[in-house]
Amino acid sequence: MFTSDILKGRVALITGGAGGIGFEIATAYARLGANVMVASRNQERMDGAVAALAKEGLAIKAVKTDVRNYDEVKNAVDTTVEQYGKLDILINNAAGNFYCPTADLSPNGWRTVIDIDLNGTFYGCHAAYQHLKKSEHGGCIISIATMLGLSGWPGAAHAGAAKAGIISLSRALAVEWGDDQIRVNTISPGPIGDTVGVQRLYQETGREELERKKTALGRFGKKTDIANAAVYLASDLGQYITGENMVVDGGRWLKYVAA
Ligand code: COA
Repeated sequence: MFTSDILKGRVALITGGAGGIGFEIATAYARLGANVMVASRNQERMDGAVAALAKEGLAIKAVKTDVRNYDEVKNAVDTTVEQYGKLDILINNAAGNFYCPTADLSPNGWRTVIDIDLNGTFYGCHAAYQHLKKSEHGGCIISIATMLGLSGWPGAAHAGAAKAGIISLSRALAVEWGDDQIRVNTISPGPIGDTVGVQRLYQETGREELERKKTALGRFGKKTDIANAAVYLASDLGQYITGENMVVDGGRWLKYVAA
């Protein structure tokens, strides 16, 4: 079951895969035998990601992509299929976020985050569908959300609304594309240490300790905690799971509800 080549023969495209949680997923997938394409806006970061894994003897590929642009997302999907011959797994991980009280948020600030998080996820799913339905393993889409989408996210209402939309979109697609054997799930991370998200939202706003205490486990998660969930969902171990929102948050949302 838990073999070291559990993703052998799979091809994965990971948006925002050159850094943070996305790169951790890319690393785990490559180590477990998958062929990985990372998509990112930032060429320098992509070069760094490719070089870092090359040092381990793992060859991943990269394609420059702004997920706000459907043509670029489609190009990322098509390039993956050209280079690796197919697509089995799509990870919609690219995200943008910043702390801003909603009264001060400009319409363009709102639109920018909705464009990256929600529209970018839709673009990925839409562009990948024709290929995912041909996967001999059954296609797999995993999008990164958060339970703060469901509770509402004061100070990041734009991102919360986008993430709620991602969960809803994923559940709709799980049903629409179930007959095509495409599984569509979300992962809802809690605060994950050493990420831009925690840095911007909690460290720079002086909320780090408070946010740590909000989790049942009293600590931030690790990027590998999310990568492990993404491995499970994409592998044969998760073959009957679809439409699920896997919460990997150290018990934060339960503590919030129970308090
Ligand atoms: N507070 C308030 N408004 C902000 C803001 C902040 N901290 N950061 C950006 N905005 C607004 C801008 O003012 C602009 O609106 P305006 O034209 O009305 O002034 C709008 O958002 C777009 O900003 P811009 O900097 O042009 O967009 P971008 O494409 O360069 O950046 C972001 C995208 C905004 C998401 C940027 O924060 C980013 O790239 N972040 C890196 C990734 C990230 O956030 N990761 C964390 C994931 S949890």
